[in-house]
Amino acid sequence: MNLAGKKIVLGVTGGIAAYKSAEIVSRLRHLGAEVHVIMTENAAKFVAPLTFQTLSANPVVTDTFATPETWNVEHVALAKLADIFVIAPATANILAKMACGIADDMLSTTVLATKAPVLAAPAMNTGMWTAPATAQNVETLRNRGVHIIGPGSGMLACGDEGAGRMSEPEEIVAEIERILAAKADLQGLKVLVTAGATRERLDPVRFLTNDSSGKMGFALAEAARDRGAEVTLVKGSTTAKVPSGVRIVEAESAADLLRAMKKEAGRQDIVIQAAAVADYRPATFSKTKIKKKAGEALTVTLEENPDIAKAVGAMKKKGQILAGFAAETDHVVKHAKEKLAAKNLDLIVANDVTRPGAGFNTDTNIVTLITADRTEELPIMTKRAAAEIILDRILEIRKG
Ligand code: PMT
Repeated sequence: MNLAGKKIVLGVTGGIAAYKSAEIVSRLRHLGAEVHVIMTENAAKFVAPLTFQTLSANPVVTDTFATPETWNVEHVALAKLADIFVIAPATANILAKMACGIADDMLSTTVLATKAPVLAAPAMNTGMWTAPATAQNVETLRNRGVHIIGPGSGMLACGDEGAGRMSEPEEIVAEIERILAAKADLQGLKVLVTAGATRERLDPVRFLTNDSSGKMGFALAEAARDRGAEVTLVKGSTTAKVPSGVRIVEAESAADLLRAMKKEAGRQDIVIQAAAVADYRPATFSKTKIKKKAGEALTVTLEENPDIAKAVGAMKKKGQILAGFAAETDHVVKHAKEKLAAKNLDLIVANDVTRPGAGFNTDTNIVTLITADRTEELPIMTKRAAAEIILDRILEIRKG
């Protein structure tokens, strides 16, 4: 990738891997990027600032003699200038400061102020990496959208063997390229995704549900998040790993989902309903466990659940795009088209859930995207790849 015109701020903290960061600067410069290096006082003990100054062809900002007055000027300038902010190596100390919002030197002050994507490449002793405090800090940072690469495993400088080695410079540069190449075409937009199965309770220990794992909805939420959207994920019961960096709203039953959607949908630019909602629920809920009566059949009467997508369609606001899914086993396109019209949707994603590699609890899907005037069949692909195309089409519909 040509990085000409890209401005990269590289923070170097105090670890033996700091010497490898010189190669990161060389590689980035070779690709045409403008690189600015900030070193902590400890980093400057491992590698001379002159090395980074020579390789980056820019002055290196260090904390060695800095006073808070100089940070105030420099940190704002570098925080604003960055297209991406990279910290390599990232010690346990800087990760902890970032997680807590501590700004007590040039690097921590600048990274706190930046709005650019942040990539951290941790490097430390295995004990420090596996310490609960570090694990929690890394989780906090991930949840805030900080990209973390590595660490790898192997022989460490301290003689221990295990996780803690900084990722290789070429891997870090490839990750920088990937982040910079990511589309930001949903920046400034609010996207709501529903995912997972509803549970319709019969008594305190039994419920009706379905096989939805949440994978399809989660793929959509992650793709929208990575493209810059502010994502709300309304989730029912799921088994897949819940995405980070999105706002989660829990909804167990169809009635809960309806309540959540009435509250949340109005403020969204895009609503995508991938949740598998039960069409019926037990007409009565027994507060105590229903006792078995030997030899007798149990009859459960079901009553119709509200159609949430239809309710959201009825309150659709101007300029809002509504998408739904159709889980079908026969006459897929015909049934999906009926749902598109009945629920006032702009797009419906039909999946034939009987096909291998499609539908419930698979990592792939085979979908047909249907609008009022177009039907587009897609081949089998990962749910993430399908999610990207669904978002592309939604943006096309938005542009008109
Ligand atoms: O979660 P995974 O394991 O990855 O599986 C993905 C999936 C198969 C669940 C997903 O791809 C899918 O098809 N989701 C929609 C399931 C569904 O409820 O389909 P439907 O044809 O019954 O409903 C049509 C649309 O109306 C859906 O957007 C649904 O969310 C909505 N609906 C349905 C019933 C109801 N009472 N209220 C609704 O809002």
